[in-house]
Amino acid sequence: MATTTASTTTIPLQTDLLTGMEWSAPQVRELLHLAADVKARPDRYRGALAGRFLALIFEKPSLRTRVTFEVGIASLGGSATFLDHTLSHLGERESVADVAHSLERWTHGIVARLFHQTALEELAQNARIPVINALTDRYHPCQAFADFFTLEEHFGGLRGLKVAYVGDGNNVCHSLLSVGARLGANVRVASPVGYEPDSAVVSDARRAARDTRGKVELFESPNDAVTGAQVIYTDVWTSMGQEAESAKRAEAFAACQVNEEMFSLAAPDAVFLHCLPAHRGMEVTEAIMDSPRSIVFDQAENRLHMQKAILLTLLS
Ligand code: CP
Ligand code: NVA
Repeated sequence: MATTTASTTTIPLQTDLLTGMEWSAPQVRELLHLAADVKARPDRYRGALAGRFLALIFEKPSLRTRVTFEVGIASLGGSATFLDHTLSHLGERESVADVAHSLERWTHGIVARLFHQTALEELAQNARIPVINALTDRYHPCQAFADFFTLEEHFGGLRGLKVAYVGDGNNVCHSLLSVGARLGANVRVASPVGYEPDSAVVSDARRAARDTRGKVELFESPNDAVTGAQVIYTDVWTSMGQEAESAKRAEAFAACQVNEEMFSLAAPDAVFLHCLPAHRGMEVTEAIMDSPRSIVFDQAENRLHMQKAILLTLLS
């Protein structure tokens, strides 16, 4: 949505989910609480989005995010129109602003998976309807909210929970840091030199962690990061759009593979998370993916409940 007053209407401007940092720690807690209720009592929310239409703009492939938004919107009584931009970037056929000004006349919200965070922000600045980040190069907030919802379900609480992320300091890592810090978790990140999370994201997370008594720690050695951790999390080494670098990245990240040896350093009750899709034999072994410690499909399921909670918060 635009942050300025609309020139043609007095409809109050609503909020967006662009980074995951726009919501305060209590608001994030409330979101987790709502997701739990949505999961436990889905019938209570049937019809909450009746008569509401959303546009889903995706510049990159997706299984989980697309399906969970489409199923989530339908199960709340709303409708979604999928705009496939995997072959043409947003802004190529017409300006991002004109897309925003058009969509706001027909729909009540936009869910966008874009290459650039700046394009998402431009979309939001020009649309007087909520815009939800379904992944950009910089953040994946829907993922991180679902991840911490999953961890709260599993462990019963998040304060001080030791979450070790091993791998690329990418969009998933950034959102894990910023959401984890707001929930009081102890987020540890181990990345090879040159692939660390952005320092501005780390500083924001450290500031947020001061208020929640959480902790943000960076490591060079994956083994140091996972020692005693209750959660080991990883993501692909080559994100969508970086395919030309995959050979170089496979070499740089070789020591980051989550395998049984690495897992033996974690706490006895440790679980494995991965946003998926996973590359078995690369960032994680088959044995860890399929072990009883892996809760990756609970995590994937919870994308649905969490995104319904996000839609209810922003649109109902
Ligand atoms: N984790 C995630 O966002 O998956 P998709 O890329 O399949 O949507
Ligand atoms: N970091 C990955 C996440 C996929 C859900 C990517 O951006 O491709």
